[in-house]
Amino acid sequence: MMLLPLKQILFALLGGFSLILLVHAEDDQSGFISIDCGRTQNSSYTEKTTGINYISDTGFIDTGESKLVLRYVKDIYQQPYWGVRSFPEGIRNCYKINVTSGDKYLIRASFVYGNYDSKDELPTFLLHLGTDLWDSVKVENVSLFINKELIHVPLRNYIHVCLVNNGSGVPFISALELRRLNITSYQTQIGSLALNRRLDIGQIAPDLKSYRYPKDIYDRFWYPYEDVDNQWLTLDTSFTVDFDKHNSFQPASIVMSTAATSQNPNVPLNLWWDPPIDADDTEYYVYMHFAEIEQLQSNESRMQYITNHGELYRKSFAASYLYTTTIYSRTGLRGGQNFSIIKDDNSTLPPSINGVEVYTLKEFLELETKQEDVEAITNVKSTYEITKNWQGDPCLPLNYSWEGLKCSYPEDDSPRIISLDLSMSGLTGEISHSISNLAMIQTLDLSNNNLTGPIPDFLSQLPDLNVLNLEKNKFTGSLPLGLVERRKNGLLSISLCDNPNLAANESCTTKKKNKSIIPIIGAIAGISTLMLAGAVFFCFCKKKRLHAAIDSKPNPGSVELEQKNRKFTYSEILKITNNRQRVLGKGGFGTVYHGYIDDKTQVAVKLLSPSSSQGLQQFHAEANEGVKAPSTLAQFRKELDLLQWAHRMLSP
Ligand SMILES: *[C@@H]1O[C@H](CO)[C@@H](O)[C@H](O)[C@H]1NC(C)=O
Ligand SMILES: *[C@@H]1O[C@H](CO)[C@@H](O)[C@H](O)[C@H]1NC(C)=O
Ligand SMILES: *[C@@H]1O[C@H](CO)[C@@H](O)[C@H](O)[C@H]1NC(C)=O
Ligand SMILES: *[C@@H]1O[C@H](CO)[C@@H](O)[C@H](O)[C@H]1NC(C)=O
Ligand SMILES: *[C@@H]1O[C@H](CO)[C@@H](O)[C@H](O)[C@H]1NC(C)=O
Ligand SMILES: *[C@@H]1O[C@H](CO)[C@@H](O)[C@H](O)[C@H]1NC(C)=O
Ligand SMILES: *[C@@H]1O[C@H](CO)[C@@H](O)[C@H](O)[C@H]1NC(C)=O
Ligand SMILES: *[C@@H]1O[C@H](CO)[C@@H](O)[C@H](O)[C@H]1NC(C)=O
Ligand SMILES: *[C@@H]1O[C@H](CO)[C@@H](O)[C@H](O)[C@H]1NC(C)=O
Ligand SMILES: *[C@@H]1O[C@H](CO)[C@@H](O)[C@H](O)[C@H]1NC(C)=O
Ligand SMILES: *[C@@H]1O[C@H](CO)[C@@H](O)[C@H](O)[C@H]1NC(C)=O
Repeated sequence: MMLLPLKQILFALLGGFSLILLVHAEDDQSGFISIDCGRTQNSSYTEKTTGINYISDTGFIDTGESKLVLRYVKDIYQQPYWGVRSFPEGIRNCYKINVTSGDKYLIRASFVYGNYDSKDELPTFLLHLGTDLWDSVKVENVSLFINKELIHVPLRNYIHVCLVNNGSGVPFISALELRRLNITSYQTQIGSLALNRRLDIGQIAPDLKSYRYPKDIYDRFWYPYEDVDNQWLTLDTSFTVDFDKHNSFQPASIVMSTAATSQNPNVPLNLWWDPPIDADDTEYYVYMHFAEIEQLQSNESRMQYITNHGELYRKSFAASYLYTTTIYSRTGLRGGQNFSIIKDDNSTLPPSINGVEVYTLKEFLELETKQEDVEAITNVKSTYEITKNWQGDPCLPLNYSWEGLKCSYPEDDSPRIISLDLSMSGLTGEISHSISNLAMIQTLDLSNNNLTGPIPDFLSQLPDLNVLNLEKNKFTGSLPLGLVERRKNGLLSISLCDNPNLAANESCTTKKKNKSIIPIIGAIAGISTLMLAGAVFFCFCKKKRLHAAIDSKPNPGSVELEQKNRKFTYSEILKITNNRQRVLGKGGFGTVYHGYIDDKTQVAVKLLSPSSSQGLQQFHAEANEGVKAPSTLAQFRKELDLLQWAHRMLSP
């Protein structure tokens, strides 16, 4: 008997949750943030079948349009999926959601197109978490329910979830849900887990059901795994599995209360899949859930062991009656997997399994513009109530920096804002003091607004400011001495014309010159920035797979790094990176260094920072136990991420 290859499972089955019974035994939504995107009324409601409290997305985003999906699509799905927020304007639109940094969250973005725009054109667009690509969203069917899920530990007290238009259709979103996972399970050494599939095994067709909260306390979606060829036997129980929450994953009892078992006891249950063709080194984290749900006689036993690619993966075990045993590897499994669950020789009963979760490893660089600049520009945005599409990180990804901003991308530090153009933005009031915190700014254009009050002296304290355009406003008073001085020394070009209330009252018609300087300087600054980025990252554009893993233990002697089949000692790493000389960027868990292997192959090496070494400690604790833990340290695909980043940095 064979389970189906996972690839063949139809996800179309999976959106309908309407069959779930209303059970409010426990109503703990304390770690939940449930956002109904596009809901027009600013009110919350309780979804009827799940009891989940949803709120409108108006407090989390200030762009986009509210739309409703087709009537028949509404009939299939729960209320949060009846409408969307769509983003016909702007390349990138972001939600900002407050979280607690360091906590583990399940983050789920859901999409039901439902022909909300009456165009019947199925879009494809990109989903970003902060400045990193999370996934692409490809709508293949008007009524299809698409669900992107991540288990992620945010570094900061907020996350940005961004919808990015890459030219293949208008992005939209139906719902955004965050569930704080109050558990130590789902741990990787480094990186986050993107859901590949989560299956409830052993349901009996045709009465297949999907489950979520309140059946699952963390609101994980469980989809039925159908025995299309009728090749297995199913087991079920009406008793509660894990009534005392004994298993740390806490899979839903209803999921664990059904299981599949082989018809012929000597034929194993097989579970296998191939990785995507263009990502054959995808790393999988697999969680198999087993519970004995038959009350066995004293002369009966169900002992089973698991192989992967024919090699022992888990030695013989028996799940306890009505208790879940979860079998998983503490390190990622690269490439295609082929598990067999096999009856032990002395077992009287065939093998069985109740549920399985498969995730892929995703590493986010989590780079960000310098915090001081982010705060300053955010204050400017709120002071002037700017309605431009200013969302997400101001400077990153490169192609998506905020309109009117130019940034520098230093090799060894976070991006900085170097130019701010707020001309013709309808600004009123005085010049915001927050601008004084844009410490690296070179060009400031506030022309063509209704700004009033005096020209502040703090502008003369900005060391790099060399172009200041204040023309066509309503400033009063006179130019501060500091600015007069800098202008006189030729350090700063200032345009003040058409400020009728200013002492130095000039008319713009005679001063055309300054105007043309600004765009030229701006353009030159932009070009040299790009060239800089190009010089740094050019090397990575030759696509070459690298798998590197390293930690920076206090005692570096035993640290290993693996490149395909090659291992490096810590001292070799120092040599490769020339004593960690060149920093490429700072990511979530540590710093990424540039290096050469064999003096020719350029590589990016990520070192875990000691302060963020939760994953590291975890590793040391786990290295000696665990299920078939590979002998090397955390393995991750740094280069691919950097490639993506470099790609973005290089594109115009
Ligand atoms: C879309 O999916 C539904 C099931 O989710 C299916 O019934 C329908 O035939 C599909 N439509 C197309 C055009 O594939
Ligand atoms: C929307 O609701 C939130 C929370 O209920 C509230 O803080 C906010 O003031 C409301 N906004 C408007 C425009 O009513
Ligand atoms: C998020 O947190 C920031 C800073 O703590 C606060 O100013 C803001 O109001 C919060 N936003 C929401 C929607 O709660
Ligand atoms: C947008 O991204 C998707 C997914 O990566 C891709 O299939 C599509 O071709 C891209 N569109 C354009 C215009 O590049
Ligand atoms: C989360 O953990 C805290 C402390 O360990 C506990 O009090 C709380 O009940 C837990 N919440 C859930 C939903 O498990
Ligand atoms: C176990 O014992 C019962 C009687 O108590 C018997 O009917 C059954 O066949 C036995 N099963 C096995 C596997 O020996
Ligand atoms: C999976 O492994 C089993 C034995 O370990 C083998 O018989 C089977 O052909 C493999 N399946 C695939 C698809 O590789
Ligand atoms: C089955 O054999 C294993 C060793 O292969 C042994 O540990 C276990 O106790 C045996 N179980 C039964 C029920 O005899
Ligand atoms: C960058 O943005 C432009 C539109 O401004 C788009 O045409 C181009 O494809 C984008 N490049 C990448 C790599 O996303
Ligand atoms: C300044 O304000 C006036 C009246 O509010 C308005 O008519 C004018 O267009 C504004 N000028 C600019 C440049 O925004
Ligand atoms: C500034 O010049 C304009 C004409 O160019 C004039 O109408 C206005 O009164 C002058 N303002 C001051 C304060 O001198």
